[in-house]
Amino acid sequence: MKSSKYSGFYKLSTEERLKEVVEFTELSEEHIASIQDPNSLSLDGADNMVENVIGRFTLPLGVALNFIVNDKEYLIPMVTEEPSVIAAASNGARLTRSSGGFYAMNTGSIMIAQIQITDVKDPENTRMAIYKHKEKILNFCNEQDPVLVQLGGGAVDIDVRIIESDIIDTMVVIHLKVNTLDAMGANAVNTMAEAVAPLIESITGGVVYLRILSNLAVERLVRATTKVKKEELGGEEVVDKIITAYAFAKADPFRATTHNKGIMNGITAGVMATGNDTRAIESGAHAYAAISGQYSPLTTWEKDANGDLVGTIELPLALGLVGGATKVHAAARASVAILGVKSATELAEVIACLGLAQNLAAVRVLATEGVQRGHMSLHAKNVAIEAGAVGDQIEVVVQKMIADKKINVEYAKTLL
Ligand code: MEV
Repeated sequence: MKSSKYSGFYKLSTEERLKEVVEFTELSEEHIASIQDPNSLSLDGADNMVENVIGRFTLPLGVALNFIVNDKEYLIPMVTEEPSVIAAASNGARLTRSSGGFYAMNTGSIMIAQIQITDVKDPENTRMAIYKHKEKILNFCNEQDPVLVQLGGGAVDIDVRIIESDIIDTMVVIHLKVNTLDAMGANAVNTMAEAVAPLIESITGGVVYLRILSNLAVERLVRATTKVKKEELGGEEVVDKIITAYAFAKADPFRATTHNKGIMNGITAGVMATGNDTRAIESGAHAYAAISGQYSPLTTWEKDANGDLVGTIELPLALGLVGGATKVHAAARASVAILGVKSATELAEVIACLGLAQNLAAVRVLATEGVQRGHMSLHAKNVAIEAGAVGDQIEVVVQKMIADKKINVEYAKTLL
């Protein structure tokens, strides 16, 4: 198996990097063209995707290196506007390699659609009536999507909840659970929920209002774990510092929000690269972070008996490999090819590990030197380029400006 471990990848030209990626994943000519040519999404293609199109908006696509997930090597495509994020993910993943990388698992691809029933006189009795007709409801839903059923998916179960409101009378809400296989599943579950509404009204005597999926996809969880040997981090002292940083996030929602933002730096960039719905993932992740009643970190960090650092992540990841932009956007198809994933659950597992690696890199730097040194050298690079530095000059000017703590265009020009 080819290794995703590289050193000095950042020093290569974009062409050379692409060559390495092609060697790793054997991309087709079409895939290569789609990520190099800014016109791979044509204006007509864009016009077919969304409304009122007047142009296109491109963002950088990079690859996170060094990932091993469930003993398999991965390069992970990431689309982001934020500097340092891709480098940080790659650094985080590199730290885990000596202990085998990441191990990830998933709870399957069950998507939930909610059906809101109002004007119910006897909510408890109605709840039972719905359960009594469960098979009929599921069969009706499955008749809406014979292809999904044929592939082994479809509506599999229902839950019925009673929800009190201080605005309207008590509601009865059905959770229709659908195995959507390799699709994100929004279309499949929304179609079923809308179609089954008249049957629900006839069973309950109530009035059905909303029929829509829930992005709090608690039956589509991904869990991943990793270990970082203390030697990789610079000793047990750094392990303790990282745990102190985690304790802060665990105890305080203000810190937990930023901690999770760092995780989503990775997850959203991976989700975007594959053409999946970033908002679906983000709303689900943040709601899951608050499911205990206190907004909490999506990762945990502990020290094992050996003094090594162990981390976990758990969150809902409703990702698809079929449907939506994943199939119509050529660069998204190329991203999936770079990943080499064969199923939506495999994709979700890799993306969860990306979030964990991203968080590892962030808490490590925050607990030790702070983020500003890295940011300053990036800033210095931009200043050097603005002052006219080219090629090898850039690094020399950057180092001198940092050493002299004078980072401005005038000084860069003087140095040049
Ligand atoms: C910046 O985009 C992300 C961090 O703020 C995350 C964190 O604080 O954990 C560095």
